[in-house]
Parts: sequence; structure tokens; C-alpha cells
Amino acid sequence: MFQKCLPMPSLATTDFAVSGSPLKLEADKRELGQFFTSQPLADFIASFFVRPLQDWRVIDAGAGSGALTLALVRRVITQQPRPVSFHVTAYEVDPDALALLRKTLTACDHLCTQHGIAFTSELRTEDFIAHTTAALEQAFFAPALRTFNAAIVNPPYRKLSIGSPSHQRLAAVGIEVTNLYSGFLSLLARLLEADAELVAIVPRSFCNGPYFLPFRRDFLARMALRRLHVFESRTAAFANEAVLQENIILRADRTSRSPDTVEVSSSRGDFADSFRSRLLPWSEIVQPQDAQRFIRLPASDQEHAAIASLAGLSGTLPDLGLTVSTGKVVDFRAREHLRATFTSGDYPLLYPCHFEDGALAWPKPAGKKPNGLAVPPSRTDLLVPAATYIVVRRFSSKEERKRIVASLVDPSRLPAGTAWLGIENHLNYFHASGCGLPLVIARGLLAYLNWSVVDSYFRHFNGHTQVNATDLRSLPYPAVSTLIKLGEAFGDRPHLPAQTELDALVAAHFTS
Ligand SMILES: C[S@@+](CC[C@H](N)C(=O)[O-])C[C@H]1O[C@@H](n2cnc3c(N)ncnc32)[C@H](O)[C@@H]1O
Repeated sequence: MFQKCLPMPSLATTDFAVSGSPLKLEADKRELGQFFTSQPLADFIASFFVRPLQDWRVIDAGAGSGALTLALVRRVITQQPRPVSFHVTAYEVDPDALALLRKTLTACDHLCTQHGIAFTSELRTEDFIAHTTAALEQAFFAPALRTFNAAIVNPPYRKLSIGSPSHQRLAAVGIEVTNLYSGFLSLLARLLEADAELVAIVPRSFCNGPYFLPFRRDFLARMALRRLHVFESRTAAFANEAVLQENIILRADRTSRSPDTVEVSSSRGDFADSFRSRLLPWSEIVQPQDAQRFIRLPASDQEHAAIASLAGLSGTLPDLGLTVSTGKVVDFRAREHLRATFTSGDYPLLYPCHFEDGALAWPKPAGKKPNGLAVPPSRTDLLVPAATYIVVRRFSSKEERKRIVASLVDPSRLPAGTAWLGIENHLNYFHASGCGLPLVIARGLLAYLNWSVVDSYFRHFNGHTQVNATDLRSLPYPAVSTLIKLGEAFGDRPHLPAQTELDALVAAHFTS
């Protein structure tokens, strides 16, 4: 009934099989943002702490069945010199998890007692956000603010809708977040004492993207990242749960001083036995000139090689006179204008399905998506001039080999006389202040963006399948002269060539 817990061989001091997931409906688990950590993974997470403490005062927020606290206790009993005391404050709102959590805390008590460590715990069966924000607000009847010298957490993962009670509470203490997990991390950063260590397993999504920018700014101003661990397989961390998020483990210290270096480690599914690790300068993790504060995580050899290959490119889209935007047509908001079949007088409407092998494959009358847009030309909020653009899909499926899939909008493939067209919102498009690109530059950009090296480069700062316009703005670009040469070399091929051929063609322009 419960997930089986395997004792770690190196820490075979206990066989308490108390962690696991209570049987719960998927919908209830989603509502609680609930994914439980297996004991081997919990032990691996606990192994991230490096600072020995005499008196541990730990917070486990969203403790579930207590797997993380138990793992930390298993680690702490091996600490030299042996600690004097271990206190944990565990927050959990799910009544089904509480019975398991109580058992785990009893097990932790036994274990500490056996090793001469004084154990105390406080189980708070209440909402961590409500309780902590109330304490931070320091209103007259507010609870006292309690601080900690260590935090271990696998917080709930769920979007926070604007205006929801948790969102409002966090906003009231100056925390601007769009997800429960970043709200938990922001609060923990405020509850930790100077130099305290925080170890967390969280989705990687906070590392890039505009929605998490306020969180990145706030968190990085309070916490110094010391170690980041990447799972090369998307489902590795929570193999028993239906988690498709890419997760990372982070260790950060409570200090406003940026670190000099950060350890970046990575593992496949077998996190417990083998992983690779590198020490990287902080300036490679968060680039000093990066206003977006992207947290870059070069883990694989390809990603490191890609960074080296593109190191000489310092061009930006503004240098090229280009911009990237998301397609203007949000189809569910323009329903009455969508036409399944394109007829004369409509405007072509381009969805991701209208591109194959880098080229326009429009219309698709038998396809599921509309092909036409029936609006007056005054609707410039929905239309763009029929010209040459590069489009990049915003979403790829996790099975797809490449994240960046770029295609050419060649207006000569559209019906004669087409003056305007619609680009649907699942596409990003490169344009020149709202106008089209010179064809040769567009071809050069097409080849560059589809280069495997650019894809690997992209992965070191984007761990999910979504390609935001901000991400595309963050790529380094070649000079105009190089793009023109590349465009000329690409020529008038009707489609992208095979990947190896394309890679060789592009690489020839970047190796001296
Ligand atoms: C991702 S699970 C992790 C559980 C446990 N830490 C582990 O690693 O196995 C997050 C937990 O947070 C709890 N939770 C969700 N919202 C909460 C809140 N506002 N306050 C306290 N706990 C919460 C959920 O019930 C769930 O047990």
C-alpha cells in the first residue's frame, strides 16, 4: 500500500519504513501539490548539507510523511563532532499525511536518542504560507517569528492564481510569485539565520522565464547558491509519481554575498550512486550583465561544448535590428474570426502545424487547426504584413529531440496578393520592428537557430519544453555579416537539410 523505503547501505542505522505516499486521488494530490520523496532520494538530498551544527534547528515546510527530516536525522547521527540537539518544525496541511509524519517524528526521536542527541519537534498542522506571512507582518496578534539554522524542503508544486488567498498573503509581505514552490522558498529565505543552509528539491522552471524574475531577484539577493544538481532524465527524481517537471536539488546559504563558485552536479536516474560534478564560477551561473538573472546550469558535455563554441558571439537581437515576439492570434479569444478553410478575402493563419522541415506547409484543409482568419485589415492587433519571418515553436513535447524548432515564413508560398497574415500564439516570430526580414538574413537565422549547438546552448538555461520569447532574446547571435554568409550558403533550399548536413554547414562559419 505504501511506497517501500529502501535503507541506504552507507547509512544502515535504521530500517524505519515510515515514509511513503498515502493512497490519494491524483486530483487531491494535484490540489495539495503533493509528490513524496522516496527514502533513497531523500538520503541523497540530505547529503547536500555540509555545515556541521552543534544544535540543529530545522524547518521542513510541506513535510508530507517526513521523509526529508528522517533522511537528515540519518545524516546528522553520523556527524563528527556529534551534535548536542536536533529540533525540527514540520508544517503539513494534509490530514492523511499527518499520521505517517507523527510516526516518522517518533522514529527520528528514537534514532537521535540512541545516538545521544536530544530530539524535539513541533508539528504544525497548518498552512505554512498563512502562518509565516502572519508572523512576518508582525501585526499585534500575529504569531512570533521563529527562525532556523537549517531548512530541508520539497515544497508543493502548484501554480498560484493571482488574487488567491496565498498569493495575496505573499504579496502583502512583498513576495511576488506565481507558484507555491517559489513562495515557500521565498518565505524560507526569510526564516533562516545568517549562513544557514537551505537544501531543496524543486522544479527547474524558476531558473529562467519572465514569470520567475521577481523571485530570482529576491531569492538571489538573500541566498547564495552553493550547489545545484540536475537530473538528466526528466522523470528520474519521482519515478513512482506522475511528475513530468524537470527537478533540481539546490543548496544555498543565507547570505547576501554572491558566491565565487557553484558546484554543478548531474546524474541520470541513478542519483544515489554516480554523479558528475564541476565547480563553475558564479559569473557563468548568473551572468553579471544579465538583467533577467537566468540561472544557467551547464550539466552535460554537449552543453559545455556549446557554451565554448558560442563564447565568441557577443551579438544581440537589437544589434541585428531584430525583435522576437509571440504570435498575436490567441485562438480562443478570436474564435469568431477563425476559418477552417481559407477562402479568398481571408488572411492566412499560421499555426505550428503549418510548418514542416523548416518550411511553410500551409494550408492544411484536412488538419485540426483553422487555416484562415476573417478580419478587416484594420485589425493590426491580429495581423502582420505578409513578409519574410522566422518562427520558432513555443512548445515541444518532451520526446522531441530538439527544443528550438525554427521555420521560414516565405511569403512567396502564400496566395498571390496576400498583404497580411496571422501568426498564432503557439509560435514566436522574429521580425524587424513589425516588418519582415531580408530573405538572406532570414535564411541565415533559420540555419543558425536550427544548429544542434544552439539547441544544446539553449538547454543550459532552459530546463523545460517551453521556448519563451525572452529565452530567444537571451541567445547570443552572430554578426550581420556572418548571418548573410550563412544565408547565402543555405541558399534557396526548399527545406532544412538533414541535421548532420545542417550542422556541418553552420559550423563551417564558426570555426576559424
Ligand atoms: C511535494 S510534497 C512533499 C512532501 C515531503 N516533503 C516529501 O518530500 O516527501 C509537498 C507537501 O506539502 C504539503 N502542503 C501543501 N500546501 C501546504 C501548505 N500551504 N502548508 C503546509 N503544507 C502544505 C502537501 O500536503 C504535501 O504533503
